[in-house]
Amino acid sequence: MNALPPPFSLNRRVLAVDAPPIPEAQAWKGLYSGDAGPMIDLSQAVPSTPPPTAMLEMLARAALNPEASRYGPILGDPALRAAHAAETGRLYQAPLREAEVAITAGCNQAFVTVMMALAGAGDRVILPVPWYFNHRMVLDMLGIEADILQARPETGFVPDVAQAAALIGPSTRAIILVTPNNPTGAIYPPPVIEAFATLCRAKGIALVLDETYRDFLDPGAPPHRLFQDARWSETLISLYSFSKAHAIPGHRLGAILAGEAVIREIAKLLDCIQICPARVAQGVVARAIDSERGWREAQGAELARRAQATREAFARVPGWQLHSAGAYFAYVAHPWPQRSAAEVARRLALESGVLALPGPYFGTGQERHLRFAFANVGIETLRALPERLQLLS
Ligand SMILES: Cc1ncc(COP(=O)(O)O)c(C=O)c1O
Repeated sequence: MNALPPPFSLNRRVLAVDAPPIPEAQAWKGLYSGDAGPMIDLSQAVPSTPPPTAMLEMLARAALNPEASRYGPILGDPALRAAHAAETGRLYQAPLREAEVAITAGCNQAFVTVMMALAGAGDRVILPVPWYFNHRMVLDMLGIEADILQARPETGFVPDVAQAAALIGPSTRAIILVTPNNPTGAIYPPPVIEAFATLCRAKGIALVLDETYRDFLDPGAPPHRLFQDARWSETLISLYSFSKAHAIPGHRLGAILAGEAVIREIAKLLDCIQICPARVAQGVVARAIDSERGWREAQGAELARRAQATREAFARVPGWQLHSAGAYFAYVAHPWPQRSAAEVARRLALESGVLALPGPYFGTGQERHLRFAFANVGIETLRALPERLQLLS
């Protein structure tokens, strides 16, 4: 990486933020000798399969349509907005409408946009630690102060609503939750999510729920019942990613679900940030939401099996303690209290050929933990983990 300083002064808030962390960990791959076997890359969370062939064919055909090369509506193509509202409504057993949806270039862009809509520099939000590192980077670069809510291994990394209540002050604008969680994999029980919403409503602040991994839960039970409350939009902003569920992270599609008044303000931001979301995949995803539901459910079932294989793998290795696992991730305490998580992760890559991310990428106080994105690889590879982990002493 070029270590030269910028040639002119840049925004001090951007300069103060660390470089994106995943490339650092991925560079360890190049230092691995290969002696323990092929590298098992459990670093960045990526779908382990391409989208279904029928969807790839639809994408190819959509790219040939000249209409896809033109600008589209700021908030996204109506067909995708309607389809996302209908599918979310189906999963959460609640009536949702196209007017309550904005389509974005991925869930990361949804988060930046929502934060810009909610808060200005000097305002505050409540953020559980460990956090998804891009959330923290966004807040720091926008000058939004984060009040930290500890999520602890003893409670399965589910944050406590009473502790959140104690952090709320006059400048607090929102509580941010990610469930299923990145990095811990924790799945917050519906009553906990609902208690956070009740608190937010009482305090007149927003609950921002990042539900990127919602499709990897049991499809028979809604992840929460917030949308069933006719007044949901007074509190909730729900963020979604089409990247993982549809295995199309390169097509950059995500969504914001919020009340119409919020969506109207968000349109101003999206007009400046993206003008319109990329068009080729929008019409395809609008159709695939129905036509590929079976494929997505099969992927969800496969990930549940991988989560179980990961639990079984760590149970077989002395010293390692899996503290939580779900959807895409396992969050695991390593056996060496005197070693930094970065040292353990680096040595794990170099000596065992297993790439995981050190806990401190996800916040302060995470030195004992590593994140393993088990969704990246098949069950046979996960079964090989104990042998690999035991190479490290
Ligand atoms: C919690 C969470 N939110 C958002 C994203 C980004 O999703 P997208 O590809 O839709 O921008 C990720 C990706 O890893 C994530 O883990």
